[in-house]
Amino acid sequence: MSRPFHLAWFTSFKPPAWRSPWGGVSGEEWMTGEYYVSMVKQLERAGFDFIMFEDSSLVSEALGGTAEMDLKHGLHSPKLDPFPLLPVLARETEKIGLIATGSTSFYPPFILARVMATMDHLTGGRVGWNVVTSSQDIAAQNYGIDKLLEHDERYVQAQEFLDVVKALWDSWEPGAVVMDRETGHYADHTKVSPIHHEGTYFKVRGPLNMPAGPQGHPVICQAGGSPAGRDFAAQHANAIVATNPLLPRMKEYADDIRARAERLGRDPDEIRVLFHLSPVVGETEEEAWSVWRRTYGMEDPLQVEQTLAILAAVTSIDWKQFDLDEPFPQGLTTNGHQSVLDDLMARNVGKTLRESLTERAQMGPQTVGTVAQVADRMEQIVEDTGIDGFLIRAETGLSHTRRYIDSICFGLAPELQRRGLVRTDFPHATFRDNLLAF
Ligand SMILES: Cc1cc2nc3c(=O)[nH]c(=O)nc-3n(C[C@H](O)[C@H](O)[C@H](O)COP(=O)(O)O)c2cc1C
Repeated sequence: MSRPFHLAWFTSFKPPAWRSPWGGVSGEEWMTGEYYVSMVKQLERAGFDFIMFEDSSLVSEALGGTAEMDLKHGLHSPKLDPFPLLPVLARETEKIGLIATGSTSFYPPFILARVMATMDHLTGGRVGWNVVTSSQDIAAQNYGIDKLLEHDERYVQAQEFLDVVKALWDSWEPGAVVMDRETGHYADHTKVSPIHHEGTYFKVRGPLNMPAGPQGHPVICQAGGSPAGRDFAAQHANAIVATNPLLPRMKEYADDIRARAERLGRDPDEIRVLFHLSPVVGETEEEAWSVWRRTYGMEDPLQVEQTLAILAAVTSIDWKQFDLDEPFPQGLTTNGHQSVLDDLMARNVGKTLRESLTERAQMGPQTVGTVAQVADRMEQIVEDTGIDGFLIRAETGLSHTRRYIDSICFGLAPELQRRGLVRTDFPHATFRDNLLAF
């Protein structure tokens, strides 16, 4: 039998596909969190290890120098802060892991350490932090920073950030909380120590004013793609999330991460590498393809426009300056996600910009068919690449509907569970222990 693998879901705390015929009232209701509450309950039953909320804090003007496209398609905005959502989701579920994103360029490390530790307590050890360095100056300007540090230096800063938050989480030794009724001591001051950190970017006295949560350190999630980012991820992360439609590239990434972890003195078995996948399943193959065409076929001008805007936002390049039906431009540079841009250019040699949009929107190897066909394909991908699982996603504006979630949670996932490929229970108390159990 094939190796079991992990399922997770990647999303944002923003409007789902409200314009879809299956959007219902989700366009109005999402801000209350209810959409995500019902979704996360389904994911837990379907054996998902975690849900992950990406995040950013900007209204993007990357396309044509105005916010029009960003707001029209709800790309970066509106987007609510996922941190306060996690404990809400935790109250409605029992075991599933809950990850939110926080930026090392913007948070003061003390606040991040304290918020994460608080959430770890509130959720009984089920939270994770997606560590990002952020890539957009327009977001930095909301935090009093005119211009972000240069790409690789952002990871040097992130490294120091991680050193500080880990030291803060460790600033209460095990046994520091004594609750001795005889002497009246709640905590033992000899086991709670300042960290006195003075580095290049941060100065933090410590200790944290609370003990760390059940996990000690919350699960660390990361998505570094560049050499600096991969080293950072390999050194710190338990869950590494990535995007590539090409199986050899997926394999190269997973192998490289494990090799880097070893070089950095870390056990590669503490890391799970998950890749984006947007499966489209139908009761028949034809039905699945018809849904796929409507979702990713770029037949709808609004789809084209939206996907161009997404591309602009992640690369900080204004794609409107290029002809859609000319060859994909080459030799571009950005102070945004350079590795994403490099990947895009390499992958789209010989294609037009328009042709690249379908691939961009589905963000992963194409998986379309009946549940059995898609399950076969997922099994094969894991076999061929050695990745640890999939980060399921729907394009928020196009296909993120309750119907899509149903197709995965009541169709695809049960088939994977029947095959013994995906978990049917969570035997451990904490998110990390469940994630690393296989
Ligand atoms: C699955 C996935 C999720 C990501 N989530 C976020 C996010 O929430 N916020 C953000 O600013 N960047 C996010 N990124 C960007 C990464 O943090 C990272 O910057 C990017 O993959 C490029 O790698 P590099 O920083 O090493 O160049 C994400 C990337 C991927 C692949």
